[in-house]
Amino acid sequence: MAGDSKYEALFRERLAEIVGEDRAADIRTTMARPKRQGFWVNPLADGGIPDGELVEGMPGLYSVAPAERENLTSHPAAQSGRVYLINPSSVLAVAALDVRPGHEVLDLAAAPGGKTLLLAAAMHNSGRIAAVEPRKARFHRMCANLGRCGVTNVEFYLADGRGVGRKTGARFDRVLLDAPCSSEARIRWDEPDSYEHWKPRKVKESARKQRGLLRSALTALKPGGVMVYCTCSFAPEENEQVVTGALGAYPDVDIEPVSLPDGVASMRGLPQWRGRVIDARLALAVRVLPDSLWDGLFVVRLRKKAGIRASASDS
Ligand SMILES: C[S@@+](CC[C@H](N)C(=O)[O-])C[C@H]1O[C@@H](n2cnc3c(N)ncnc32)[C@H](O)[C@@H]1O
Repeated sequence: MAGDSKYEALFRERLAEIVGEDRAADIRTTMARPKRQGFWVNPLADGGIPDGELVEGMPGLYSVAPAERENLTSHPAAQSGRVYLINPSSVLAVAALDVRPGHEVLDLAAAPGGKTLLLAAAMHNSGRIAAVEPRKARFHRMCANLGRCGVTNVEFYLADGRGVGRKTGARFDRVLLDAPCSSEARIRWDEPDSYEHWKPRKVKESARKQRGLLRSALTALKPGGVMVYCTCSFAPEENEQVVTGALGAYPDVDIEPVSLPDGVASMRGLPQWRGRVIDARLALAVRVLPDSLWDGLFVVRLRKKAGIRASASDS
């Protein structure tokens, strides 16, 4: 936006409407400054690790100052897969899913595979993860990334996630939908690439795709199972409204709280947006607000209620 986009003023107005003027001012400042780089120590690989500052409340996760980013990227541990460059918000979204060894997990929008790696590590490479990605280049990058990182419990599917639930039926213990979105929370005023595709139409198109993906994800979730829906967009159209629609269509689905480490800037799901009603349960959703380390992320945890004949195997 940097002053030359016709959508800049619109984006700024919307941001203030969503998070409030004070928070929007902080976020705009954050978006104009270089960020710290997070990295996660991969227990599925061996080797030494670079120096970094431990991220409070997030075991295995460190960060370095912006100026150290290049050194980190070229460090042998990053090349070998012993450490994976990732933002704390991504780690938080995976933690909210609470996967266990032996689970059958669906990662419905998986490339380049950062969250799939965290899932595999939490499952000690046991059980099975189905990782879905429709874009060829990203799909192949994901396969290479996860192979390099020592992941062995993933089956890869080059496919549109919207058709998956219909094909699999309700079989997964856990489903992650890290949905494709308008990427609003990734905007950096100093990086034109990060906002050149933002426009109101992008928000609308993303929401349409997200609705299809969320329906597919919920169809694939077994009774008693848990799913996490997240986006890196601030837009209520892509977050609260998408989930409100799904709750209407799936009366057997409820929302559960997401917990955050102390000190993380966040706000709860909005109670309404531009006069349109949002399901009151969305107050349990969380919008992590971007700062010098954390990326902005909307996260909600959903559970499909167990039917009377559901087994007690889901824990
Ligand atoms: C936010 S990114 C996922 C990041 C990934 N979970 C990670 O942590 O590395 C969203 C992904 O969804 C993919 N995508 C786009 N349309 C899709 C669809 N119809 N079905 C499944 N995935 C889709 C995009 O290509 C992109 O790779």
